[in-house]
Amino acid sequence: MALKITVIGTGYLGATHAAAMAELGFEVLGLDVVPEKIEMLQRGEVPMFEPGLEELLRKHVAGIEGSTGRLRFTMDWAEVGAFGDVHFVCVNTPQKHGEYACDMSYVDAAFEALAPHLHGPALVVGKSTVPVGSAERLAARLAELAPAGADAELAWNPEFLREGFAVNDTLHPDRIVVGVRGERSEKLLREVYVTPVAEGTPFVVTDFPTAELVKTSANSFLATKISFINAMAEVCEAAGGDVAKLAEAIGYDERIGNKFLRAGIGFGGGCLPKDIRAFMARAGELGADQALTFLREIDSINMRRRGQMVEMARDALGGGSFLGKRVAVLGATFKPDSDDVRDSPALNVAGQIHLQGGQVTVYDPKGMANAKRLFPTLGYADSAAEAVRGADVVLHLTEWREFRELDPAALGEVASSRVILDGRNALDPEAWRRAGWTYRAMGRPTA
Ligand code: UDX
Repeated sequence: MALKITVIGTGYLGATHAAAMAELGFEVLGLDVVPEKIEMLQRGEVPMFEPGLEELLRKHVAGIEGSTGRLRFTMDWAEVGAFGDVHFVCVNTPQKHGEYACDMSYVDAAFEALAPHLHGPALVVGKSTVPVGSAERLAARLAELAPAGADAELAWNPEFLREGFAVNDTLHPDRIVVGVRGERSEKLLREVYVTPVAEGTPFVVTDFPTAELVKTSANSFLATKISFINAMAEVCEAAGGDVAKLAEAIGYDERIGNKFLRAGIGFGGGCLPKDIRAFMARAGELGADQALTFLREIDSINMRRRGQMVEMARDALGGGSFLGKRVAVLGATFKPDSDDVRDSPALNVAGQIHLQGGQVTVYDPKGMANAKRLFPTLGYADSAAEAVRGADVVLHLTEWREFRELDPAALGEVASSRVILDGRNALDPEAWRRAGWTYRAMGRPTA
């Protein structure tokens, strides 16, 4: 009989995982504790912007015309316990308020709520990003709380999806990592993944701590790569070098690789910043803090970029105060193809300039609603051209395709002054310069 799957938590990770499991042919039941989310998902609507996810949901959500009906949603833990053979826990682990450590309360609450309803044999699979040692602790909790006959096992299966590519990354992962204790867990997870997704994809079986660490160390490596190139950008700025050329040239060395070497205002979002901080906090608890002190530097190089962008804007306006200056900000989300503004470098820069008296107008293709909620006092425009109208300087802070395709000549007609600062090194300098703009980018000569 085919396995039945439940997915607990329907954020970027859970909603995508649930839809992907249905796409693979499994019967899937998703759970969330927020009624509005469940109502939306039941209508086949996605509570956030994620390319391709709505189509995939609508293909499978029960009750939608023409759907396979394989995917349903509920708020009822007993229903989830009774339904599933394999339960994926996909809830959020945000940074704790005012601390480096991550907040495990949603994971803990999910285990407490689910365990008493399990029926045997049940496999619970953690996918959330957690501090190393959590799986060990949660396995013990599961053994305490699950009914005697449930024969509950835990496995840890970190997820590496990127926002904006969530569907593709889930259906075509680079690798699948499973931390297991028993043979049954491994066998079941192979059944879930191997035939449909992972034919030819590396399937790495390991213990709990290694599986947890694979995720945090992968994110730390990515963060390190970005901060490394941003540190080189700082040196290029001081020495008159060009960081984009430098990145291209070092990237040809296959040992270095050319990905994740785009210098600019740095990384943000709900993962990299909080994951490196939680990793440092956990290493401290384990007495291994020295091993990760370099991550403090990675974090501070990253945070420094935002201030440097503000200073670049001040310089472009002739130095001195922002008072009375009109600043257009293109981009609000932490990266393109997402509506996520969590720890967004773009909004941080916009907010700093606003606090210093600048008249800031922001435009973003998908992030406007979230940005307005988080920074209600900033000015907003309905298009790039509207944001740029009357601007003394234009800041390009999130590299949406829409911005790369802008017509610099047309924008030059509405701007008060033709100065554009590219905080993402993503625009074509020559195209802007030809249209009479002063184009400046982080870590590159002013030309
Ligand atoms: C990241 C990891 O990539 C993913 O594997 C993990 O599962 C979750 O965290 P995500 O947060 O969606 O994914 O975004 P990612 O594409 O990694 O970008 C993170 C940030 O780094 C963005 O703000 C992006 O603009 C920035 N970035 C990325 C750079 O500044 N330069 C680069 O070269 C690449």
